[in-house]
Formats: sequence, structure tokens, C-alpha cells
Amino acid sequence: MTKKIGILTAGGDSPGLNAAIRGVGKALEGHYGMQIVGFRDGFRGLVENRTVDLGGSALSGILTVGGTILGTGRDKPHKMLVDGEVRDMTETIIKNYHANDLHALVCLGGGGTQKNALHLAQSGLNIITLPKTIDNDVARTDVTFGFDTALGIATEAIDRLHSTAHSHHRIIVVEIMGHRTGWLALGSGIAGGADAILVPEIPYDVNSVADAIKNRVRKGRSFSIVAIAEGAVSRAHADEVAKFEQHRLDATDKAEKKRAKKKLEKLRAVHADHAINLGHELEALTELESRVSILGHLQRGGTPSAADRILASRLGSACADFISQGIFGVMVADRGGQTEAVPLDQVAGRRKEVPLDHPWFTTARRVGTNLGD
Ligand code: F6P
Repeated sequence: MTKKIGILTAGGDSPGLNAAIRGVGKALEGHYGMQIVGFRDGFRGLVENRTVDLGGSALSGILTVGGTILGTGRDKPHKMLVDGEVRDMTETIIKNYHANDLHALVCLGGGGTQKNALHLAQSGLNIITLPKTIDNDVARTDVTFGFDTALGIATEAIDRLHSTAHSHHRIIVVEIMGHRTGWLALGSGIAGGADAILVPEIPYDVNSVADAIKNRVRKGRSFSIVAIAEGAVSRAHADEVAKFEQHRLDATDKAEKKRAKKKLEKLRAVHADHAINLGHELEALTELESRVSILGHLQRGGTPSAADRILASRLGSACADFISQGIFGVMVADRGGQTEAVPLDQVAGRRKEVPLDHPWFTTARRVGTNLGD
């Protein structure tokens, strides 16, 4: 009997998802004679049994297309909002997996998806994953697809901001995605020649950034570009968060725990405006006019770069190889230029931050970039 493989995309979309779906599907069908069926909108589509036939010509012409032809969502199998209440839908997923006669399920996603996939693997399903995200923060893979494209977009944005900052003698603060890591901001900041790069891995001191800008003015450079990761935090903010996280841990009664949790939520809400606040602070400290550009979802849209198409196709087709060998409970990772199957329990729940001794940090410092410390 022809083996049938399910596939879904979950979490935030990213360029290269369609290239990966095509890589998995074409290799499964053309090379291994298996059948592939898609589920719409992430794990919710699996719960609601909304399928898409990916056979025949369905995979043609999607290599270069951005987003995901399957749709995506941030639902968790074990905590899904259904009919107004949060429910554990694992049993429904297992039921639909068997009702569709699946031999395995391929989940394409970032850190959250790896966790959800591990949960399903531990529930007895044959699960295999691919690492996608523009954030590049998935553990145990050198790189995720989507990152290279976003890096190019953010770099181009910094290039464009340079000329206008220069013309108006302004500071331009540019906020770059990356969730809680600084891969995207650091990479595009170096490639675009940002004067300061602020990332979550190094809590920043606003005075250090202001001093660096004033130094530039003294040398006749009356404009500056500050690339700030969405997850970057000032030292003061980091200290506050650490204090209330400790309070929450130490709290002996429920009310105290709740107060600490509320305070943490408030701090998170304030943080949403951090790039704008930084613009104001730098304006006050340097007496230069400032503007803020938040790149947002622009960084996730559009056609994937050549590098992402190659990576997604390579990991996708290797995924079919692993399925044919009966290797499950793993993520197909890129390690040292090779493709490896890494056990999901070594991936789930871990975040790959930029190590402080990473050559990108050294490079930035060597060329005189301020890192806020
Ligand atoms: O994980 C990808 C990402 O784009 C992050 O960089 C960002 O923090 C988040 O998703 C945004 O999520 P959403 O699309 O749900 O607003």
C-alpha cells in the first residue's frame, strides 16, 4: 500500500516554506512513491481535519512563492481555543492522523512548533520536523530557512535609511525582528553598517549609545543609524524583569505571585514601545533629531532568497530520505553544511541565542560599532 505522509506549517510564516513543502513532496512522490497530503493553518487544520491534496501538479510553481500555500497558525495541540475555551486537542489530532491513514506527519516551524511536535511524537505519532524562522533561533541547527531572506530585507532597509539619515543629520533607530535573539539585528546591522546594534544578548546602556553618537558628531558625522532588535532590553529594564521574576519564584502565597506576574506583564507592555522610547531618549541626550522605523512583517514577506530556496529544498528532500528510512521524532537540521536528524527532545524548549563570543560580535566591535555596553 502506498504510504501517506501529512504535512503542515505552523507558527509565523517565513520565506522558504513553500520551497520546503515542494522539496519534501517531490522527493516523497517522485523518488519514494509515497503520497503527500497537506493540513491547513497549522495544528488547527489537523484538529478540524481540513486537508489539501498536494499530489499531481499542486507543488509546481511554488518554489519562489513567499508565505505558505497551506496557511499557518500559532495554535498548540494541547492548549487550543475551541468554542471559547482552551482545550487539549491531542486525542482529536491522533484520531485524525489515523483516520487519514498517515504513516508520518511533517511539521515545518520554529521553536514553538518543535515543542508541539515533540508533544505529538511522545503521544505515539511518527513526527519529523524542519526548522524555519526568520529569527534563526532554533536550537541544534546552524541556520533556519527564512533567515537569509529576512537578513537581506533588513540590510536593504538599513542601506536605504542611511541616505535619508545622512541628508537630514538625524539619528534613525530601526527596529528589527528576531523574537528574543539578536541574529537578524546583528547580521543586518553589520551588513548595513549600523553605528550601534542593540540585541537581547547584551542589555544596553542608553548613555553608551548616546556617547557613541556624540563621538561621531565630533568626527564630523552628523547622522547615526541604531539597529535595535525587537527583543533588546536596556540594563534598567533587564534588572526590573529579573527582580520581578525572582519575586514570582520566591512568592509564598498566590496573591504575591499574581502581583509579580502582573508587574511582569506591565513591563512587557511598556517594552512594546521600546524603539520609540529609545528614539526620544537619544534625541534628549544628543540634541540630534531622531526618527524611528519599525520594519515589522515586511521582513517576513515576499520571495525567498536563493540561499533559502536551496536550504529549504535540501532539508525538505532530506526529510523524505529520513521518512523512507523510518527515522522519526527528529528535526532535520543543517549542521556544518551537512544534513542531520537531531532528536526533538534536544531541540524543543531551547533557544539558540547569539553566543557572546560569536565572530559577528567580534567583527562589530572591531569595526567600531557600539553594542550598547
Ligand atoms: O518568529 C517570527 C516572528 O516574525 C518574530 O520575529 C516576531 O517576534 C513574531 O514572529 C511576530 O509574530 P506575529 O506574526 O504573530 O505578529
